[in-house]
Amino acid sequence: MSLTIFSGIQPTGRKHLGNWIGAITQYVAGQQRGDPAIYCIVDLHATTVAYEPAVLRERVHDTAAILLAAGLDPERCILFRQGDVPEHAELCWLLASVTPLGELNRMHQFRDKSIAQRELVAAGLLLYPVLQAADVLAYRAGEVPVGEDQREHLELMRDVATRFNARFGDALLVVPEHRIPAVGARVRDLQEPERKMSTTGGSEQGTVYVLDEPGAILSKFKRAVTDSDDPPQIRRGEDKPGVTNLIEILAAVRGVPPERVEDDLTGARGYGDLKVAVAEAVVAELAPAQERYRALRADEGALEEILAAGADKARAIAARTLADVRDAMGVGAPR
Ligand code: TRP
Repeated sequence: MSLTIFSGIQPTGRKHLGNWIGAITQYVAGQQRGDPAIYCIVDLHATTVAYEPAVLRERVHDTAAILLAAGLDPERCILFRQGDVPEHAELCWLLASVTPLGELNRMHQFRDKSIAQRELVAAGLLLYPVLQAADVLAYRAGEVPVGEDQREHLELMRDVATRFNARFGDALLVVPEHRIPAVGARVRDLQEPERKMSTTGGSEQGTVYVLDEPGAILSKFKRAVTDSDDPPQIRRGEDKPGVTNLIEILAAVRGVPPERVEDDLTGARGYGDLKVAVAEAVVAELAPAQERYRALRADEGALEEILAAGADKARAIAARTLADVRDAMGVGAPR
């Protein structure tokens, strides 16, 4: 049976190691399994908070270049920009009629963002999860690889699909499954390992960006907070969030289980050895990608061509779903 994988990614050039391990490398792996694997840079979602139009375009290019540098291959997946495929906005509207307002009001992200934004809380922010549901449902995707923070949005999208099918036609839309990556979802801030690594609200020293210079990466890891166990113990444990984080990052980057990393480091002299090992492994992974990024990012014409070709492929799929949805809802001229 064919499996459509779909994920959306915010347009920003400030992707960090948590995004890299938790999402971007999962996208690359998804190219083998997905039939097809579809990845969408969500510029429409980005308009729900304050932003500059010209900067948004730049950030879409940054993101496309990062994804391509990481190994997304336009021949093996569909990479496109949400705003190029009008079916997303149309389906969002149609799904809004089977989405209870109360549920949208209760969403954590809406609550957090609307509290943070005292000036003007756009209705688009409330509809954000409905647009996200439309993104996935338009492709009848079965699997959605995203982090733990998207759990609520995934639940809503499953509810919306189920409700739509109950009201307008059995099995018209596919109810998607959430796929949370095992380790990436847990990458922690290096300075405050109790919290997730994050672009907003994290510490600058504790956040490793995909495009950080190797020197900066090394110094961030060297200053990572560990603990004062004496002698130092290189093992994972709830009482050891800093050390656990470093072990898990190293395991993820090497592609081995964390137990292996613990075994390998039994002879280490202290946390310094662990920090340097992680930093070197991360630099070894990111430096070649950064070089590819610089080459790709410099050619905006080529990036636009890749996005346009992706949008054509995406639209061909989404248009079929929309034709079924319009027909089932009695909207527009009959087929
Ligand atoms: N809301 C997601 C995030 O902030 C991005 C996103 C938009 C998405 N549409 C999606 C993720 C569809 C998965 C599927 O990370």
